[in-house]
Amino acid sequence: MSGTSADGIDLALVDFSNDKPKLLASFHQAYPQDIHNKITALYNPDTNEIERAFSVDIELAHLFAQAVNTFLQQQQLTAKDINAIGNHGQTIRHRPQQTHAFTLQIGCCQTLACLTNIKVIGQFRQKDIALGGQGAPLVPAFHQIVFSDAKHDAVVVNIGGVANISFLPATDNKNPMIGYDTGPGNALMDDWFALNQGEHGSKKRYDENGNWGAAGQVNATLLALFLADPYFKMSAPKSTGREYFHINWLAHHLALTKIKALNLNPADVQATLGALTAISIANEIKKLSCTAKIYLCGGGTHNTNLKNQLNQQLTNYEILLTNHKGIDADSVEAMAFAWLAFAYNKKIFSNSPAVTGAGKKTTLGCAFHP
Ligand SMILES: Nc1ncnc2c1ncn2[C@@H]1O[C@H](COP(=O)(O)OP(=O)(O)OP(=O)(O)O)[C@@H](O)[C@H]1O
Ligand SMILES: [Mg+2]
Repeated sequence: MSGTSADGIDLALVDFSNDKPKLLASFHQAYPQDIHNKITALYNPDTNEIERAFSVDIELAHLFAQAVNTFLQQQQLTAKDINAIGNHGQTIRHRPQQTHAFTLQIGCCQTLACLTNIKVIGQFRQKDIALGGQGAPLVPAFHQIVFSDAKHDAVVVNIGGVANISFLPATDNKNPMIGYDTGPGNALMDDWFALNQGEHGSKKRYDENGNWGAAGQVNATLLALFLADPYFKMSAPKSTGREYFHINWLAHHLALTKIKALNLNPADVQATLGALTAISIANEIKKLSCTAKIYLCGGGTHNTNLKNQLNQQLTNYEILLTNHKGIDADSVEAMAFAWLAFAYNKKIFSNSPAVTGAGKKTTLGCAFHP
């Protein structure tokens, strides 16, 4: 798994021999700055894209393979011990709304299979898009298996670059599962943080614990403008990506005369971006259930300021980390793509038409052999 934050590679070693998938071990390899820059430079149209994208496609496959091989060594395993790698890859463009809808993940599956000597299942989003779906989010089917409960509603909130929720109604009630991207997760905060190194002095690629944002004031005018974006008003199925919630999206708002006149401090903008993520998630949860247990996962769970803002918005809810259900909050996404590979091998339906809007149930992914 390499998410839209382009922060690094997440691996999960998962055992599917019992009823419930079991996370055996996990591994994270952060991207060096130049790789991060090469990926994020592909989020929006620019010159020489084909050449750059297909070169990064192979470069990432090499990095994924190195990570897998190191992880296997650490776990004292060999390629023979692994049934398959589920490779999400790296999304560089996601355009599910347009006439010729498409989604593009790089990190070449064929190269990864040859370099690891393990069968790779990848390109999971394509078939859902081909069937008229959003191709995203794909994780709710997995969330349902591991987080749903007979007696109470549950909402899984993944705060990655983009944030997505899965609403898992109490299984006794037989209501359908719902899932969609709520909007930005960490992405805009990461972008703004990187642009303002001179202000906060940190060389990190993210606002650690949300400390810089916590020092600013949420600005109500800017927040209202952010929340007026049409994406937040669209009904599901819907999904979004970094080509939309991009630094240009923020720059556009900050350039408005009304906002310029406020003379905002950069930390206030960061605080307001944190509020945008928290409120856009909370608004959707409130629409879905007033009693659900909330399970948080993704890198945003390390942002204390963001978690505080979510708590303030959702005072009547029980908010837990997915760790409470035995799955480390940083490994849920990677584990979900391992499950998608497992589902491919077992020919299990793995898309959720109710979530993505696809025309029918199907098994997602393609196999690439060493
Ligand atoms: N200590 C921390 N303090 C604040 N933010 C953090 C911290 N650790 C991680 N993050 C945030 O989490 C992000 C990475 O999260 P994650 O890997 O879940 O996102 P992702 O790669 O975009 O995944 P996806 O889009 O698939 O959900 C970082 O870019 C950063 O914004
Ligand atoms: Mg990540």
